[in-house]
This record gives sequence, C-alpha cells and structure tokens, in this order.
Amino acid sequence: GMSKFVKIVEVGPRDGLQNEKNIVPTDVKVELIRRLVATGLPVVEATGFVSPKWVPQLADARDVMEAVRSLKGSRLPVLTPNVKGFEAAVAAGAKEIAVFASASESFSKSNINCSIEESFVRYRAVTRAAKALSIPVRGYVSCAVGCPVEGEISPSKVAYVAKELYDMGCFEISLGDTIGVGTPGTVIPMLEAVMTVVPAEKLAVHFHDTYGQSLSNILVSLQMGISVVDTSVAGLGGCPYAKGASGNVATEDVLYMLKGLGVNTNVDLAKLLSAGDFICKHLGRQPGSKSAVALSRV
Ligand code: HMG
Ligand code: MG
Repeated sequence: GMSKFVKIVEVGPRDGLQNEKNIVPTDVKVELIRRLVATGLPVVEATGFVSPKWVPQLADARDVMEAVRSLKGSRLPVLTPNVKGFEAAVAAGAKEIAVFASASESFSKSNINCSIEESFVRYRAVTRAAKALSIPVRGYVSCAVGCPVEGEISPSKVAYVAKELYDMGCFEISLGDTIGVGTPGTVIPMLEAVMTVVPAEKLAVHFHDTYGQSLSNILVSLQMGISVVDTSVAGLGGCPYAKGASGNVATEDVLYMLKGLGVNTNVDLAKLLSAGDFICKHLGRQPGSKSAVALSRV
C-alpha cells in the first residue's frame, strides 16, 4: 500500500538551475538553498561538481557548497561525475553525493562523455572512495523511460543499470524520466522490471514534466510502494543534454497532491511557495507550478 510518509528530494538548486542560460549569482543560489532548508525539506540537492565547460551554471559549486555546508536540517547532496568531482565535493564539505548513469548509450555519451560500461568503472571508483569516508552515494538512472536520441528504452535495460548502481553500494536509486516522455503506461512496466532487482524502498522517482504527466506518474509510483520523490521548486529545470526537456515536476504541486492523499512530508508549503517566489523573481519568470499560481490568487 501507499506509504504515509514521502521523502521529497528537492533538486531545484541543481537540476532546476543547471539549464539556466544566465548565470545565477552564487549568493542567490545560497539564499535559495537556505530558504529550501528552512521549509523542512529532508534533502536539498545543492549543486554539482561537474565540468564547468559542460555546465557553466554550476562552475561555482565549491563556493555554494562552502556557504551551505553547515546548514542544519537537510541533507545536501551534490552530483559527482567522477573521482575528480568527488574529491572537490568532499574538500568543499559535501557529506553526501550522487552519481548519474544512463539507461541509454547515446545519452551517456552526450551527458558524461563515456559509455554506460565506462561510467560503471568511474562510479565504482567514486563509490569506493566514498565508502572509505562513510559518505552515502545516491545513484541516478537517466533516460529510464525514453531517450532524446534512441526513443523508447527497454525496462530490462533500466533494471540492469539500476542493479549495477545498487550493487556498487548506492543507498538509493533515482529513476529519471530525463525528457519527461513517460506516462503510467510506460512507467508501470519500467518500475515492475526494476523492482525485480532493487527493492521498492530503495527507489526514488524523478519526473520531468514535459508532457504534464508527472503527477500521474508519481501517483502510480506511490501505489507501487515507492516513497521517495524528486521535485524542483517552482518546476524549475531541464537538462542541458536533453533538448526540449522541461523542468522537474514542481515541488508545490507534489506537496498539494500528497496533502490531498493524507501523506505527510514535513515540508511547509507556505515557506516553499515563498522560496519559489524568491527564485522566480530573480529569474524574472512566472512559477512553473500550478499550485503556486492558484494559491497566489487566494
Ligand atoms: P570530459 O570532458 O570527458 O572530461 O568530461 P575529461 O576527464 O576528459 O577532462 C576534461 C577536462 O575537464 C579536464 O580539464 C578535467 O580536469 C576537467 P582541462 O585539463 O581540460 O583543463 N574535469 C572536471 N572539471 C571539474 N569537475 C569535474 C571534472 N572532471 C573533469 N568533475 C565529465 C566528462 C563527466 C566531467 C563531463 O561530461 C561532465 O561534467 N558532465 C556532467 C554533465 C551534467 O552535469 N549533466 C547534467 C546532470 S545529469 C541530469 O541532469 C539528469 C538527472 O537530473 C536525472 C534525470 O533527469 O534523468 C540527474
Ligand atoms: Mg533531472
């Protein structure tokens, strides 16, 4: 049955901002993270120690991490694509990290410049180094439903990549519909396949809202026993290597749905709305959250 508590993993400061063309000042990112932490969110993905040539927006990862490292209340994981990124993350004070593989060979190449198998070699080195420092590692599987180049991705391929990440020690596997093409019709068979190799309580879902399917996809995921959901404040986001992919599902909309379902998250929706307002004002943009728009009229 459905869990009475859902852990929200807020990815706005990382996934939400990484695709923004104009560089957001470091102090704005830091203030956003502060405000998100103050909402009661258990996890706020803070930044990524990735190549600044590939993702210029996150070139200030060290400064962001150093500014937020001592905030209390939320875990603040960061993306690390290799040992170089891992070492920089740890030096800046990161206490939790995430690696990101892909279920699509083409996307692996365009996102992290290596094959899927090569990425496992890299990530084994990262998880080994993290284990030595007792740093928990999350694993992402991108293109868990579809790929911008290859189209549909088979559930067995997703299960294979998820199991590799799980076996190398990732404590949680987040299944990413990177380009937001999934519907319950494709998400359910994908989750069924993954659940034959990784238990539901170790899985998270990560939906981008390109076709407006995120809430229905989240609902079926919850019904299948998943209780960790990745979201982005104000629906910010996209992926620089997935053309046309829109933002992550908005945190506000997920909180509204969960409240309606009687599911607890410990997140203060009013404070979250205000964090969304803060970053949208900075970006000069309307919130990509239906709830934010609706509640601002009340
Ligand atoms: P590469 O160019 O193949 O790297 O990039 P390399 O090892 O050949 O090194 C080239 C240069 O990059 C060297 O510098 C390295 O030092 C440097 P140079 O000698 O030329 O001056 N370098 C680094 N610099 C900073 N941090 C590092 C790092 N590593 C090497 N960690 C690499 C390979 C993986 C680094 C690159 O492709 C990369 O950073 N990719 C990340 C792309 C990214 O962040 N994508 C978005 C996140 S994934 C996502 O959004 C999906 C997700 O949300 C889930 C979903 O939606 O499905 C997670
Ligand atoms: Mg994403």
